[in-house]
Amino acid sequence: MKLLCLLLLLFAAATLAIDIRFGGTKDCKGVVASCLNQAPNRCCYLPNGRQSSHISFGAVPGDWKITMRGHVGSNCDLAITAGGDSFGSGGNLQDYCYFGGSPAFIASGDYFFRSEKVDSSTNSPTDGSLVNGLILEDGTEYPLDGLDEDAIAEAVDAAFNGTIGSAIRKFKLSPLPA
Ligand SMILES: *[C@@H]1O[C@H](CO)[C@@H](O)[C@H](O)[C@H]1NC(C)=O
Repeated sequence: MKLLCLLLLLFAAATLAIDIRFGGTKDCKGVVASCLNQAPNRCCYLPNGRQSSHISFGAVPGDWKITMRGHVGSNCDLAITAGGDSFGSGGNLQDYCYFGGSPAFIASGDYFFRSEKVDSSTNSPTDGSLVNGLILEDGTEYPLDGLDEDAIAEAVDAAFNGTIGSAIRKFKLSPLPA
């Protein structure tokens, strides 16, 4: 029973934040660069000059009513090019994926709870975080802790152009335990 409680607690803690993910493909598949466990009202952005074709929000609790957005600008401050709402209709964790509109490219993303009544025209997160992980198509996560921005940019380029294996070796990335 104690173990069950502990597991439930861990599960609850793990679902307080979701992953925001950027990918180089038009089909929501492939390797993605991610802000792991990103808090609401906080911008997640790609390294300077990098853009993605899709943005996804991973493991959104089924009862959350949030608005998810992808932006052209790197500070979640320019036009919204992708996004949508989750309606809190229940159920298990859900993944949402959106493609860029016109222009198609996405450089940053964020989400917020609609109950907070944020005016969407002025809601600009005050601070943000650079992507801090790469996730393979099979779900394996590689944190980018300890890398500087140039190294993260190189790793993201490799993730988007199909050469992630060389970046894993070069930067000695280790996967999180599954
Ligand atoms: C992919 O990106 C990496 C990192 O920037 C670069 O070294 C490599 O030459 C690129 N490969 C291709 C095929 O574009």
